Amino acid sequence: MANQLLKGKKGIIFGALNDMSIAWKVAERAHEEGAEFVLTNAPIAMRMGEINTLAEKCGNALVIPADATKIEDLENLFEKAMEHLGGPVDFVLHSIGMSPNVRKKKHYTDLKYEWYHQTLDVSAMSLHKTLATAKKMDAINDWGSVLALTYIAAQRIFPDYNDMADAKSLLESITRSFGYHYGIAKKVRVNTISQSPTVTTAGSGVKGFDEFINFSEMMSPLGNADGLACADYCISMFSDLTRYVTMQNLFHDGGFSSTGVTQPVIEKFGSIEE
Ligand SMILES: NC(=O)c1ccc[n+]([C@@H]2O[C@H](COP(=O)([O-])OP(=O)(O)OC[C@H]3O[C@@H](n4cnc5c(N)ncnc54)[C@H](O)[C@@H]3O)[C@@H](O)[C@H]2O)c1
Repeated sequence: MANQLLKGKKGIIFGALNDMSIAWKVAERAHEEGAEFVLTNAPIAMRMGEINTLAEKCGNALVIPADATKIEDLENLFEKAMEHLGGPVDFVLHSIGMSPNVRKKKHYTDLKYEWYHQTLDVSAMSLHKTLATAKKMDAINDWGSVLALTYIAAQRIFPDYNDMADAKSLLESITRSFGYHYGIAKKVRVNTISQSPTVTTAGSGVKGFDEFINFSEMMSPLGNADGLACADYCISMFSDLTRYVTMQNLFHDGGFSSTGVTQPVIEKFGSIEE
């Protein structure tokens, strides 16, 4: 299904950990669509070396380690990426999320605040740092497109999503605020895609994920959107076909966000005898 939608475009893709990662699928699709890009992830996430397999599949893409919470790493990333790609980029995918409180099963009402800081820094402030670094270095071309991935727990309570919900709220707010300033300055657009629950390393870390993904499937008229479908949506958002979309939170969830209840869910509860 390649249409060369990204022919001539250059980009940076954060967050491909393994072949389940949404970013992995975005990289494969962006390559098919003719884009040239740099892959990046936190140095610690590169220990298994899986990202090199992806780089080979994507026309020997350059891999540059960067902890997205560290400004000096981001400066090095944009500098090396521009050197390698021959100039500023046209698209950036921020596909980063991590909560020590979720990992260590701390309850939302009893968070460890040091970890809460880390959750917000890694999962949300890293987008601000990426955008601020890019803007200062003039590293994104006019009409460039920046995407971050989010989840509907930013708007509604999903108890086991814990402090990641707060991080996603902040991520979506940064998207609006920075989208305004970057739009005025350089016509760079910034959006979030709010994705269905998807089986990945980050996704499966959430307690009760298997039950929850089934519930979500039943509550979505089209069913859950998978990682590949999410990648397709990202490609369209990086393309020139969506030039005037900015500062938006875009639901990519098979209709889940607009659904109150579905017939299969009602039927699960059986009928109440008079
Ligand atoms: N899987 C889902 O159900 C789902 C649903 C909606 C949104 N999302 C979001 O999609 C994004 C990608 O997650 P995924 O599901 O593909 O899981 P994933 O575990 O494959 O990806 C998360 C990535 O974040 C990276 N990361 C963590 N700390 C980092 C740091 N300090 N610097 C740079 N990178 C760092 C990890 O190395 C990893 O590659 C996340 O923002 C996640 O919240 C996931």
